[in-house]
Amino acid sequence: MKLTIAWTAVLALLPYVFCKTSTYVEPTVPTGTPIAGNYSGQLRPQIHFSPPKDFMNDPNGMFLDGNGTYHLYYQYNPTGTVAGNQHWGHATSTDLYTWINQPIALYPTDNQTFVFSGSAVVDTNNTSGFFPGQDNGVVAIYTLAHYNADGTAGPQTQNIAYSLDGGFTFIPYDKNPIIPSTSSQFRDPKVIWFEDHWVAVVSYAVEFTIGFYTSPNLRDWTHASNFTPHGLLGLQYECPNLVSMPIRDSSGTKTGSAWVFQISINPGAPLGGSIAEYFPGNFNGTHFTPYDPVARIADFGKDNYAGQFFYGIPEADDAISIAWASNWQYSQSVPTGPLEGWRSSMSLPRRNYLTNITRVGVVMASTPYDLSPVLGGVIASNSSLENGSLTVDYCKVSSNAVWLSINATGINSTLLTSMSTVNFTFSSATTNESVSGGFYFAADSHFFLDRGKTKGFENPFFTDKVSTTDIVGNSWSAEVVIDRSILEVFLDGGTRSATQTFFSNEPLTKLTRGGSSD
Ligand code: FRU
Repeated sequence: MKLTIAWTAVLALLPYVFCKTSTYVEPTVPTGTPIAGNYSGQLRPQIHFSPPKDFMNDPNGMFLDGNGTYHLYYQYNPTGTVAGNQHWGHATSTDLYTWINQPIALYPTDNQTFVFSGSAVVDTNNTSGFFPGQDNGVVAIYTLAHYNADGTAGPQTQNIAYSLDGGFTFIPYDKNPIIPSTSSQFRDPKVIWFEDHWVAVVSYAVEFTIGFYTSPNLRDWTHASNFTPHGLLGLQYECPNLVSMPIRDSSGTKTGSAWVFQISINPGAPLGGSIAEYFPGNFNGTHFTPYDPVARIADFGKDNYAGQFFYGIPEADDAISIAWASNWQYSQSVPTGPLEGWRSSMSLPRRNYLTNITRVGVVMASTPYDLSPVLGGVIASNSSLENGSLTVDYCKVSSNAVWLSINATGINSTLLTSMSTVNFTFSSATTNESVSGGFYFAADSHFFLDRGKTKGFENPFFTDKVSTTDIVGNSWSAEVVIDRSILEVFLDGGTRSATQTFFSNEPLTKLTRGGSSD
């Protein structure tokens, strides 16, 4: 039987260039200057954003400004490699891969308050009144999580701060909070503009409910509706997102647009710990109505959580998102803390749109945002590989990051056996460590990822393998990015994607592509 597998290219990925306010500031936390970081560690991703040092979790406040600069804020503890003492770290980029660390953007109000997750918008028309004569004013909307003297959780309230310098420094609003609360589980406001008003989605975390609020000016908010438990429960709903994105047909042509409502769930995901579900549907300015009750999963890996969509992406374009590439089950235990002084990276930036797939219907596709700024030379390429294997040594690629694209076409599904496969293994030259993945084509085609043969981290919740199931067709594709301690795959045009961290004792520098049609 003929199995034609086009292995389009394996490219080296260039290292990402690390170039280098009422508020309570701990004596050891710097202000007005970026925190320095050492990005040379063997586990340190080179094209994924990671904090200069210490602990990072959720992406916050992401927006594209009028000069074409992307702003990424993030949950940041600048005083340790575990969560706590939350601030908003800040970085900027013009290509979403080459990040410049900026000074911390938001500090706590006192030493018993943390700045939790939230979002940011550009108030172009000065609806807030903070920005006379300016069209680049930025408003950050975030949760302040108060703690009592005995350490127990106090109220979580929603607050704003405004920036007169395009998002670098912020002034807290003197009438905060803008949405008061007595609940210790009310957080993560995400704001968008809808036709003639602002809309915020905020999580009542342990009630499995997302509140929809509206505002003319970002200061005064009115409760408009509630989105009650849908799909998966887990134990808490966090980090809601509401975003409009294009619908594309199988040829990629835009045929319309629709809303996507995404909820992050932690703990209690089906795979353990953290996960995100989403619902395509309609939004009328106050109420979101999903097309159906189906819980769709944003990513089938274990390390993709609290994803956020950028504000300010032009309506006609695909949405762009970034997620936290970790899982609360083990994020505070991974070895990058003791070994290299930092913990957690972000996912790749992803382009997102809706499309229809066989039997399943509408899904959100995720593909890596244009990688060309960080693509180096082609290391190997073969357009007609059939059975057999091929090995590529990429130890000379200093970033230790590569992109791999596999296209398997011309497959006669009636001839497939349970052993028909195309797979890849990234392995170490000096230890027996590896991460691998691949398709088994027969029946309902399965795809797996296995990080169990890396030896740098043992944890009962750091489970080895994940998989997904495809619908039999006669062509499959996988785009793979490996970047020192993180692997992401995008299958069949991104209709399924997975993010997996891994921790090897030695760098993985060898790629073996295997394939068998029988
Ligand atoms: C999600 C989350 C948010 C919260 C933040 C605190 O990972 O728990 O709900 O705002 O992290 O860092």
